[in-house]
Amino acid sequence: MTATAERAPEAEVGAVPSFQVTMRIERYNPDVENPQPYWEDFTLTVHGTDRVLDALHAIKWDHDGSLTFRRSCAHGICGSDAMRINGRNRLACKTLLKDLDTSKPITVEPIKGLPVRKDLIVDMEPFFASYREVMPFLITTGNQPSSERLQSAEQRARFDDTTKCILCAACTSSCPVFWSDGQYFGPAAIVNAHRFIFDSRDEGGTQRLEVLNDKEGVWRCRTTFNCTEACPRGIEITKAIAEVKKALITRSF
Ligand code: SF4
Ligand code: FES
Repeated sequence: MTATAERAPEAEVGAVPSFQVTMRIERYNPDVENPQPYWEDFTLTVHGTDRVLDALHAIKWDHDGSLTFRRSCAHGICGSDAMRINGRNRLACKTLLKDLDTSKPITVEPIKGLPVRKDLIVDMEPFFASYREVMPFLITTGNQPSSERLQSAEQRARFDDTTKCILCAACTSSCPVFWSDGQYFGPAAIVNAHRFIFDSRDEGGTQRLEVLNDKEGVWRCRTTFNCTEACPRGIEITKAIAEVKKALITRSF
């Protein structure tokens, strides 16, 4: 027998076998009388490399077209599909089914702390309202420079981590302080304030720090680390929040 004959067919190399999975999804239909959330199970055969998002697509396309969820890029970039999967905030498009315990139903719920509109879709407006309040854009004064606003590699590195945010809300909606009353600005707003406060080209740092000095601002953080654990971009959120707190005390940034 030749070496070529012994080799497995191309398609089978490294293949993960298909398997069966039960998706237990929290449903909510606002269009019925006295709407209440309820669980619904769907049992599917999935490909070995499928993600939670693929299972949701299979349900929507082949079982129940009314299942409602957000997604856009399907590749961890747009931040649309944060949801609670087996009790933990994750992006459905970055969660492989084979990495979950498939011996029992996989639970999928909307993220917490924001009003549910339908099934897995929440109203993101309170989240974006806090984001807007921290002025997430470059603030400069004086005349436009005639060339680029230069920055050293060290200055750029100061806020590199917080540039990675995709505004998925996984952090804010995993924060118990945010759950308690929804008034707290939340980690995502602080991350995005950090991104500009520590940018050497920006001149709005003091203004932003004043916004976060509010009673619903940065001091409400209780350092539970839920946000850091939830972030699909691996941003060191608790560290960024601590840096903003320190900047407020020392007034240097
Ligand atoms: S900091 Fe991370 S978890 Fe929070 S919104 Fe940005 S990407 Fe999502
Ligand atoms: S669909 Fe864009 S991040 Fe998941």
